[in-house]
Amino acid sequence: MTVITEANKAKAKDLTAKLTLDEKIAIVHAAGLFRSGGAERLGIPSLKMDDGPMGVRAELHNDNWMPLYNTRDYVTYLPSGSAVASTWNRELAKKTGEVLGEEARGRGKDVILGPSINIKRSPLCGRNFEYMSEDPVLTAAQGVAYIKGVQESDVAACAKHYAVNSQETDRLDVDETVSERALRELYLPAFEAAVRDGGVLSVMGAYNLVNGEQCCESRKLLDDILRDEYGFDGFVVSDWSAVKRTKESAEVGLDVEMSVTPNFDEYYFAQPLKKAVEAGEVKESDVDKKVVRVLSVMDALHMLGDARKTRKTGSYATLDHAAKALDVARESIVLLKNDGGLLPLDEHAMTRLLVIGANADRIHSNGGGSAVIKALHEVSPLLGLNGALGGNVEIEYVLGYDAKQVNQDESWQEESLENSKGSDTQDEEHAKALRDEAVAKAREYAAAGDPVLFIGGLDHEHDLEGRDRTDMRLPYGQDKLIEALLDAAPNTILAFVAGSPVEMPWVDKAKAIVWNWYAGCESGIALAEVLLGRVNPSGHLPETFPVALADEPAHRIGTFGLKGHVDYKEDIYVGYRYFDTKQVPVLFPFGHGLSYTSFEYSDMTVRRVDDEIRVSFAVRNAGERAGKTVAQVYLGLEGTGEDRPAKELKGFAKVALEAGESRQVEVAMPAAKALRYWSNASGAYALAPQAKVYVGESVEDIRLSGRVA
Ligand code: NOJ
Repeated sequence: MTVITEANKAKAKDLTAKLTLDEKIAIVHAAGLFRSGGAERLGIPSLKMDDGPMGVRAELHNDNWMPLYNTRDYVTYLPSGSAVASTWNRELAKKTGEVLGEEARGRGKDVILGPSINIKRSPLCGRNFEYMSEDPVLTAAQGVAYIKGVQESDVAACAKHYAVNSQETDRLDVDETVSERALRELYLPAFEAAVRDGGVLSVMGAYNLVNGEQCCESRKLLDDILRDEYGFDGFVVSDWSAVKRTKESAEVGLDVEMSVTPNFDEYYFAQPLKKAVEAGEVKESDVDKKVVRVLSVMDALHMLGDARKTRKTGSYATLDHAAKALDVARESIVLLKNDGGLLPLDEHAMTRLLVIGANADRIHSNGGGSAVIKALHEVSPLLGLNGALGGNVEIEYVLGYDAKQVNQDESWQEESLENSKGSDTQDEEHAKALRDEAVAKAREYAAAGDPVLFIGGLDHEHDLEGRDRTDMRLPYGQDKLIEALLDAAPNTILAFVAGSPVEMPWVDKAKAIVWNWYAGCESGIALAEVLLGRVNPSGHLPETFPVALADEPAHRIGTFGLKGHVDYKEDIYVGYRYFDTKQVPVLFPFGHGLSYTSFEYSDMTVRRVDDEIRVSFAVRNAGERAGKTVAQVYLGLEGTGEDRPAKELKGFAKVALEAGESRQVEVAMPAAKALRYWSNASGAYALAPQAKVYVGESVEDIRLSGRVA
C-alpha cells in the first residue's frame, strides 16, 4: 500500500523551503483544466489528474474542453460504482481499482478522480450510477478495496465528493442541512474508511454547503474531522470551481484549486492568493502547508528526483483489463425475480429469440458527465447475445420504443456550472406504432413457445451529472410497452440496464426480472451469460428499490432536489434503515439478489474475541449448480437509550460453493466499529452495550439471529 511516510514529508518540507512564493502558488492551483502547476527549477513536475471512476477520461486540450481526438486515448470502460458495489466482492472492487490505476499510469496520470463514494440518499440523484450504495459500510468496504487497487500503480485515488454531495440540483450552491448524527453515521464514514483503511492520497472537496458552510471552506470538515480526527495527510483538491473565496479556503485544509475556465492566473489560489499573502491577509505558512501536502503525495508516488526512475509503468486498453472488467460485470448483475424458474434460458432448446427494447442495442460509456469514457469497445446486450449464441439461434430484434440516443456534447463541461438540461418528448403515434409491432411479434413468439426478452431501462439522459431525475418512472413509454408485452407474452423476460431504481407498476405480472447496472465494456457479454445460465447470478442490491418515490424518506420526511436548501430531516433513516425500521413495504429490499441455486444457513455462533465480534455460521449450496451468495451480517444496536434503526449492515462475505457443498463462514468485525453509534445525548461516538445479530441474504431475508454476548 502506498502511504505517505515521514521521509516523504521531510523531503516535501525541505523542497518547500527552497520554493519562491510564485512557485508555491503555482503548485496550489490549476495550470490546465486537469493539472496543477509545478516548479521546473527544482524538478517538481505538474500534477496530472483525470476523471474518473469508470476509466481514464479522453485527453482534452489544456485550456479548453474539446478533446484532442487522438487514437491513443481509448481505454478500458470499467463497471460503474453501483455495479462494483453490487458484487459485494471486495476482491473485485480491488481488481477494478487495479485496472484503473494501471490505466491511469499508462496514460501518464498522477491522480485519478475516483472513487465516488457519496451516499445514495434518494433514487433520483443524477450521479447515483457513480456512487456505490445507500449504506456506509458497503460503500466503505468497496471504496477502500478500490482505492488500494488504484494506488498499487503509483497513482493517487481521489475520494469524492467530500461531503454530503447527494443531489445534483443546484449542486454549486445548495446548502444541505444534516444532523451531526447522520453526518457521522452515514455521510462521513466511507471517507473516514478511505483515509484510515484505504490510505487514500487525495480527497475532493464538494461543491455544496453543509449546514451553512462551503465544503471547501469548512474548518470542521477539512481540518477538525479529515485531518485531526482521521489523520489525513494527503491533499484536498477542490471540485472544479468549488472554491469561492481566497482567504476562507486558504486558511483551511483545502490544498489545490481546480476549475472549469482557462483563466488560471485569476483563480482564487493564483494571483489573488499571492496578493493576499503579500498583504499579510493570509499567512505564507498556510500556503506552505498545502505545498508540503502536495509534494508529500508526489514523493510517495515516486514523482520527485531520482525516485522517478523507480515509478511503476502502466498499461491501458489491454485484453487483460477487459477480462477483469468482465469478471466484475458478471458478479454485478442482480436477478431480482425468477418465478417458476423461467431463467436461465435453455440455449440448446431454443432456435430463435425475440429481443425488444432500445437498451439492447445501446452503449453507455459515451455519457453521464465527467464519468464519460472513450471506450476502446463496449459490448451491447444485443452483441453479447449474438456473440454467445452464434449461428444456432436466430435472434430477431425490434426496437419497441424510441429512446434518445445519448451522445454527450464534447464541450459539455464548459456549461457544467449550470444544471444540465434534458428532453423527453414523445411522439405518441410513433410510440404506438413501435409498441404495436413489438407486441405483435411477442405474441407470435409466445404462441410458438419461443422466448421473448425485453431489455430496457435508463441511459445517461437520465443518470447524469448536473441533473436529478424528477420521478422514478421508466422513460420513453416503457411501462405501457411492458404491460402490453406481459399481456401478449406472459413469459417475457425483463432485463434492465440502468444506474438507479425505477418504479415497476407491472411487477406482479412479471415472472423474471434481471437488473444490470452500467457494467463496463463487457456488460453485454456478462448479461448474456447470466440470461443463458453460463454464469450463475450473484449480484445483490446495494440499495433499496422502493415501490414508489413517495415512499422514500428523503422525499416523505426530508426535502430533495430543491434549489438553495435541502433538509435531511429523515436523519439516519435513509434507505433500508427507514424502510426496515418503519416496516414500509418495498419493491426489492437492500441486499436482495437471487441465484439459480439456493443457499441454506445454520449453526450460528457469536463470540467476542479480543476486540472483535466474530459471527460464524454454516452456508450450504442446496441446489444443483455452483453459485455464490452474499451472507450479510446486520446488528440491531440496543441499550443506547436513543432511537435506532432495527438493523444495520456491519459485515458481509461473498461465499462461492459448489452444488451440495457447505462451509463454515466467519465474519469478523472490530467491536469499536460494529457497536459504534453517534450519541445525540453526548454529542460524541459511543458504543452500544448490547446488540442483536442477524444473518441473511437481504435485510428482509433473515436466516439466523442471535445476540452479541
Ligand atoms: C465536476 C465533478 O463533480 C467531479 O466529479 C469531476 O471530477 C470534475 N468535475 C472534473 O471533471
